[in-house]
Amino acid sequence: MKQRNLYKAFVRPVLFSLPPEVAHNVSMSMLSALSHLPNQAFFFRDLLKVPNIPVKCMGMDFPNPVGLAAGMDKAATALPVWESMGFGFSEIGGVTQHEQPGNPGPRMFRVKSHQALINRMGFNNPGADAFAEQLEEWVERSLWPAHPVGINLGKSLITDISKAHFDYLYSFRKLRRYADFFVINVSSPNTAGLRSLQEKDALSRIVETVMEENTGTDRRPVLVKVSPDLAEEELADVLQVSLDFGLAGIVATNTTSERPTLPRKPPADSYSEKGGLSGAPLEKRSNEVLRFLYDQSGGRIPLIGVGGIHNLESTLDKFRNGASLVQLYTGLVYEGPMLVVRILRGLREYMEANGIADLHELHPGRSGHPTTS
Ligand SMILES: Cc1cc2nc3c(=O)[nH]c(=O)nc-3n(C[C@H](O)[C@H](O)[C@H](O)COP(=O)(O)O)c2cc1C
Repeated sequence: MKQRNLYKAFVRPVLFSLPPEVAHNVSMSMLSALSHLPNQAFFFRDLLKVPNIPVKCMGMDFPNPVGLAAGMDKAATALPVWESMGFGFSEIGGVTQHEQPGNPGPRMFRVKSHQALINRMGFNNPGADAFAEQLEEWVERSLWPAHPVGINLGKSLITDISKAHFDYLYSFRKLRRYADFFVINVSSPNTAGLRSLQEKDALSRIVETVMEENTGTDRRPVLVKVSPDLAEEELADVLQVSLDFGLAGIVATNTTSERPTLPRKPPADSYSEKGGLSGAPLEKRSNEVLRFLYDQSGGRIPLIGVGGIHNLESTLDKFRNGASLVQLYTGLVYEGPMLVVRILRGLREYMEANGIADLHELHPGRSGHPTTS
């Protein structure tokens, strides 16, 4: 049997026999244990022959444009392993000022027939102080990854929505010296009122507060992450705020509260669970949002495309819709850890076959390549 089928043949059936969050915790424990092995990054990258596809973006050098999306490593307990898996950058968190348990379980569901997940985790995380301690441990063990590390910032449930900016500011201050970039997450559907923070005045307040602090030589690129459920006028507002305050980029998108019509009927029980939908059924809307932001901004601000990536083609479509970098989460659950290297190999072959030196050439309206899916 070919190596690429090992996960689906042997590992996934075991993981999928467990409740989704248990499977997640088991996987994370194993990845965390692996993370502690010295030199594992070199070992695995060598073994997997991870292709280099260097990208310069937001003033940073990325070994390749495929990153880990937020929410997988909420406590940074497996930070070194993402680089070994081939990822060109990782986004850890979401982290909030205060430690919090998140919503009561069950809170993660598989929609297996459609390669999707629904979650209503509600920012379960150890809080910014403990998060900083975990990061310090990776530094002290000399296991900090060589690729850019972003930190996803959320808002604590106990912080009143009118004081949200202080929550983001606290985590930003606490974690600034570790992060290569920050993502202000105002788009998770699982914290009451959070998504109202995407509204122009509320978002301006948060962004202004963080950016006032973000001065001096240790300035960091700060991005904002948007919901796929925003209307065009609302997306245009987010874009305007991002441009006005000099944000480094926009991450599009988070999970959706909508339930798009599926090609085949899903098992009613899981698809009707409350929470944010990720994976294949999110891809179409996520790409529409990406494309809208690209067109509206005229490509003036870097976009990180995330939502529904599960193979090479869905990755290429992100670039065709204007992404400079991409991220994935749910694809990893369904396709396994080799997905990243498979995508990278595919990207390299595609670039060579089509004479593409830089994936930005795939952006809408550039150099005669197919523009959209
Ligand atoms: C269980 C779970 C937890 C998540 N937690 C976060 C989070 O804390 N912060 C965030 O910005 N996005 C979070 N996300 C959203 C992902 O980062 C990503 O935007 C979304 O899942 C779409 O990508 P995908 O289809 O590749 O999974 C989470 C997603 C899942 C499935």
